Amino acid sequence: MLDLDAEVLRPLLTETTALLEELAGDRPPRRILDLGSGTGAGTFALLQRFPEAESVAVDASATMLHRLQEKAHELGPADRAHTVQADLDGEWPPLGTFDLVWASASLHHLTDPDRGLGEVFSVLRPGGLLAVLELDSLPGFLPYDLGFGRPGFEERCRAVLAERTGHDVPHLGADWGPHLSRAGFAVKVERVFDFELAPPLPPAAGRYAEATLRRGRAHLYDRLDPDDQAVLDALLEEGGPHHVLRRSDLTVRTTRKAWVAERP
Ligand SMILES: C[S@@+](CC[C@H](N)C(=O)[O-])C[C@H]1O[C@@H](n2cnc3c(N)ncnc32)[C@H](O)[C@@H]1O
Repeated sequence: MLDLDAEVLRPLLTETTALLEELAGDRPPRRILDLGSGTGAGTFALLQRFPEAESVAVDASATMLHRLQEKAHELGPADRAHTVQADLDGEWPPLGTFDLVWASASLHHLTDPDRGLGEVFSVLRPGGLLAVLELDSLPGFLPYDLGFGRPGFEERCRAVLAERTGHDVPHLGADWGPHLSRAGFAVKVERVFDFELAPPLPPAAGRYAEATLRRGRAHLYDRLDPDDQAVLDALLEEGGPHHVLRRSDLTVRTTRKAWVAERP
């Protein structure tokens, strides 16, 4: 799902890394830290943007880091992409000093993101940059009326999910600017990316919608009424007439935000 997210919303990565290149000026980063790297979407975009750099990807999940290493071998920069498995809510392992720190969709997972930002401050060299990319909800894909079931299915799912994420990940959708300032950073740029991708979409968009619905099913199924459960089942029924991949009316609607800050 993370790989599909990066593929479908590619401008988020290309434009943010371009902005970092511009801000870094004649001192491009040599050591990059990718916090909560997942499968490395940020790591690979950054290693491509900064060919002289090496990166350290930190994540609590060994599975994510394993996939990142596989991709590093497939794509080429294996000798420049290092991984460290660590729980960023605990004591941070010694990581050295960095010119650039990247935290995409990971800060909101931390129990105490302000403490995490304090750690980032201490591993970033003076003049170094921190990029924070965040979201406030999962993307939407479906039309209001699916042609079966009760209209408004996706809105109802999103409302249920919002209730749950409000409880499980309370920092999702936070305004990170004040958090960055409090941690001592100077916020240089704040940018909103509004995506409204319409058909014809690339095949990855359908798979992204399917992966998002599957994830939704794991999290919200029990809280849907039986009619909506049946709709969700039909959208995900392999080979079924209503399978989401059969639809030609999918769109991708999501908002992402990026903050770039400097350690003075
Ligand atoms: C939504 S994913 C984002 C991954 C990647 N940065 C991206 O944008 O594709 C969040 C990642 O943060 C990691 N994560 C969550 N809590 C963590 C923690 N306490 N310590 C380290 N990693 C954590 C998860 O394992 C997951 O890979």
